[in-house]
Amino acid sequence: MAVRPVLRMGDPRLLQVSRPVDRFGSPELDDLLRDMEDTMRALDGAGLAAPQIGVALRVVIFGFSASPRYPEAEPVPYTVLVNPALEALSDELEEGWEGCLSVPGLRGWVPRLRRLRYRGFDARGQLIDRTVEGFHARVVQHECDHLDGILYPMRVRDFTRFGFTEELFPGQAVADD
Ligand code: NI
Repeated sequence: MAVRPVLRMGDPRLLQVSRPVDRFGSPELDDLLRDMEDTMRALDGAGLAAPQIGVALRVVIFGFSASPRYPEAEPVPYTVLVNPALEALSDELEEGWEGCLSVPGLRGWVPRLRRLRYRGFDARGQLIDRTVEGFHARVVQHECDHLDGILYPMRVRDFTRFGFTEELFPGQAVADD
């Protein structure tokens, strides 16, 4: 088990464009995925992207049955997604709250595509092809943004809905990122 330190906003490594994985089933990829899962679970994250632990590869993980950070969200199956590609199925946007392990203590109101198709590969190189909507679609967009050096505050339009979790949701037991 290796819980790795998560880089925080301001670290230039979070702004890099990551490179694709070119080999599946390698010990390096397996180690990376294990560390990412340990780190995400230790911090109760809904997802994690490799650049957040300082690895500039196009690898994300996400999923939870019940997230203390997003108590209203429907469950999302645990997914390893390597070299992902997103495809919009309509222009319809939906706004919702997001946080990020790299932006601890804050939440923002972020527009995302409501529905999309994503493709990519699991740890063994098997194709994953899913059409999703709602929070599942939101999480995928948030995590894949990390691979292009984009953090959710860069997507916020209404800055009256961007702030510290404790101030935005007073008295609520929202996990402190
Ligand atoms: Ni994030």
